[in-house]
Formats: sequence, structure tokens, C-alpha cells
Amino acid sequence: MSPLSFMFKIGNIEIEGKVILAPMAGVTSLAYRDFMKPFGVALTVTEMVSDCGLIYENKKTLDYIKTSNIERPVAIQLFGNDAETIIKAMKIVEKENQNFDIFDINLGCPVPKVTKAGSGSVLLKNPAKLQDMFTKICTSTSKPVTAKIRLGWSDETINFLDNIKALENAGVKAIGIHARTTAQLYSGKPRYELLNDLRKKMSIPLFVSGDIYSLDDAINALNITGADAVMVARGGVGNPTLVKQIDHFYKTGERLPNASLVENIEYLKQFTDMLINEKGEYRAMSLLRGISPKFLDGFPGMKPYKNMLAQSLTTKESLHRILDQINK
Ligand SMILES: Cc1cc2nc3c(=O)[nH]c(=O)nc-3n(C[C@H](O)[C@H](O)[C@H](O)COP(=O)(O)O)c2cc1C
Repeated sequence: MSPLSFMFKIGNIEIEGKVILAPMAGVTSLAYRDFMKPFGVALTVTEMVSDCGLIYENKKTLDYIKTSNIERPVAIQLFGNDAETIIKAMKIVEKENQNFDIFDINLGCPVPKVTKAGSGSVLLKNPAKLQDMFTKICTSTSKPVTAKIRLGWSDETINFLDNIKALENAGVKAIGIHARTTAQLYSGKPRYELLNDLRKKMSIPLFVSGDIYSLDDAINALNITGADAVMVARGGVGNPTLVKQIDHFYKTGERLPNASLVENIEYLKQFTDMLINEKGEYRAMSLLRGISPKFLDGFPGMKPYKNMLAQSLTTKESLHRILDQINK
């Protein structure tokens, strides 16, 4: 297969590749994004950041908008329920951070705490209101504004085409779509068949998200939808080589092998150092109890080590002790 075109623009920002690192609250902090970038990430996105958290100068919220030159281009993702507060938060971001490229607005979060407050995916229920809101947002900044949406609220209210049109009319420069409804949360199959040839119906770049666990998942999602890029989310956690496989395939037409166990152990050690550097050892270990076992997924005989990682990580030394016991 010949390499396909892999460059596109979001407003004036050039994106060189087919892989966008999907935002994941609690996972895609700066350390994770910097760690994943060299595998072939074309665009990173921060975890979702509350507009009001920024307005009330919550120190932790300010940490979420830190970015690095390694990861650029980078989008900062905000969520909120009102154009005025989102615009206020954007001004704060612009004042605090000169190292970012795009504002992304979260229209996909299904968590009740968020949707009950009028933010996230509940905003997709009223495309006309969404268009008004985004017209204000897009005209308030010189940065490109993008949005991440879902198919709709539930099977009965699948309205992504109306929302895409509304966002395009408002001046949004690219759209990411998670091919599930809000009611599906994060499980059940993503419905790429509903997005057949979607890109042809749009005038701005499209990214697609949902169950990208292998190169073939990415090829399939891109072929069906005609999207400009895939968003790698859970499938990349513990398997950074997935990003490399997708990126490399679309740049050269070649398929790279999966990572070996030795490589994945090395990646885990690298990521651990970066996470400790960012968050300190205590907080890093608490996050790694969730993430580190995924680096051993798919290799035979790893269950006892995965259990140890999930249960008894307390220090970097304990992580190395467990990994050193593995018979490679
Ligand atoms: C733990 C977790 C946190 C997430 N946080 C965000 C977020 O902050 N902003 C956002 O737009 N999407 C968020 N998502 C959705 C992902 O970006 C992605 O669209 C979704 O997981 C579907 O892709 P997947 O099936 O390949 O994981 C999150 C998903 C997970 C699993």
C-alpha cells in the first residue's frame, strides 16, 4: 500500500502525521505527553481543564495548562457551560502560557458531575445554542479553536451532523468525534459505520476516536470515515509502539512489529522517571499502580508481575525490583 497524505492544517497550525494523543483526565499529564511524543504523535491535547478552576486561580488547575516545547503542537482542552467563562479562562491561559497552539473545547465528557453542571456532552443537545456559544468563543481568540464531540446523547438522539454543521458555522477549525453516545460512556462498540465518509461532508479536519488498539483498528477507522487522523487513547497506554506503528505506516507504507517485552519494560522505566520528575515519587506511584501493568499486557506469564505492580508499588525501587524478577 502506498503511503497516504499525512499533513493537514488546523487553522494556521501544521499537523504532520495521523496520530493525535487523545486527552484522558488523570493520564495525559505533561509527562505522559512528552513520553509519547517521540513515538510519532502529531498533536497532543491536555487533560480537560475547568474554566472556573482557572478563573478562581486554583493552583492545581494551573498545573494542567503547563505544556512543553517537546510536545508541540499542543492543544489545551477546556470545559465549561458558558461562552463568557470559557472566554475568561482562555484569556488566563493566553496570559500564563505562551507555548501552546490550539484551544480545544470538551463537548464529549459524559460524567454526570460535568453534564449536570451544563458542561461536556450535554451541550450537544442543542446545536443552535452551541453555534451561538462557539461563535463567541472562536471570535475571542487568534488561536484556532477545535471541539471534541460524541455521536449524540443516546441512540434516540444521534445528532452529530447537526452539531458538526453548527461548529463549522461558528468558526471551529477541526472536530474530534468519539464514535460513542454519551449513554455508552466508554464501553460498547464505537459506531464507525455511522461515520461512513463523514469527512466528505465536512469543510474542516476530522479526527476519530474509539477503540484504537492496533494499526488495523486505525486503518479501518480512517478508511471508513475519511478522517485526517485517529485519536489514540486507552490503546496507547502501556503500548506506545502503537503510535509508532500508525505513524510509520502512513508515512512509509510499512508495518512495524509489536514491541518486545524487553522494550516495553524499558519504556515503563523511562515513563516512570518522567512521571516522578513531574509529580514526585508518591503521586507517581499511585498513578503507576493503575498504568504500569498495561506495559506487560499481551505477554504470556505476566499475571503475577501485573498483580504485584497493581498492588505493591510504593517507590521507584519497588518498581525496578518487580521488573527485575521478570524472566525476559
Ligand atoms: C480515563 C479517561 C479519561 C478521559 N478524559 C478525557 C478528557 O479529559 N477529555 C476528552 O475530551 N476525552 C476524554 N476521554 C475520552 C478519550 O479521549 C477517548 O475519546 C475515549 O477514551 C475513546 O477512545 P478509546 O476507546 O480508544 O479509549 C477520556 C477517556 C478515558 C478512558
